[in-house]
Amino acid sequence: MSISRGSGAGATKTFNFKLVLLGESAVGKSSLVVRFVKDQFDDYRESTIGAAFFTQVVPVDDQTTVKFEIWDTAGQERYKSLAPMYYRNAQCAVVVFDITQEASFEKAKTWVKELQRQADPDIVIALVGNKNDLTSRRAVPAEEAQAYADEAGLLFQETSAKTGANVGDLFKAIAKKMPLDSQKQSQKGGRTSASGANRPSVDLSNGGASNAAGNCAC
Ligand code: GTP
Ligand code: MG
Repeated sequence: MSISRGSGAGATKTFNFKLVLLGESAVGKSSLVVRFVKDQFDDYRESTIGAAFFTQVVPVDDQTTVKFEIWDTAGQERYKSLAPMYYRNAQCAVVVFDITQEASFEKAKTWVKELQRQADPDIVIALVGNKNDLTSRRAVPAEEAQAYADEAGLLFQETSAKTGANVGDLFKAIAKKMPLDSQKQSQKGGRTSASGANRPSVDLSNGGASNAAGNCAC
């Protein structure tokens, strides 16, 4: 629990949520999370082995912040069997495709189906069309992805990890969708407390609500 006491302001509650990134290899999962956590981008990035862990804090309003504990999974087929370990206790999932690769959109749909069948029934899922800086090579119309997301009950955002477009907005939109209510949180925590990730927390220092909590294990 953490309570940040600003000058004369009321206490700030910080809610922790476990977030998992899923999607085909090379769609830009790691690039998105590195943009979000460190505001950096590399034109060449090693494919993820197993998974990488990061944290980042998003202020929601004057009284509330959300701390995401992020598992960036490996998209290569050989790591597919590890995915349930990462999405099992997740309260939110970001399913990424590359707007220039139709096959990656189909793969994203299969991830959404798997999450809807096997993850927490209350999981918040965001569908993300990444690489929207490459519009001349677009293969997936934004309207088609938006229509699918509406039908499946998902948040939808197009992003560019390269330019940073919409990356902050994406995580802010997810934070706002999360149950930011202590009572609901503790009821839910009782059900899925194995990870301990969804307990509301109150930070006793301003440092606990810092935006620079990035922690890359890749
Ligand atoms: P795995 O770890 O194998 O699952 O891949 P990944 O989904 O994590 O992809 P990664 O972030 O490693 O990115 C793959 C390649 O795409 C890298 O060369 C990135 O530089 C590039 N890339 C990622 N995001 C973008 C983007 O928004 N625009 C452009 N143009 N390239 C991007
Ligand atoms: Mg990766």
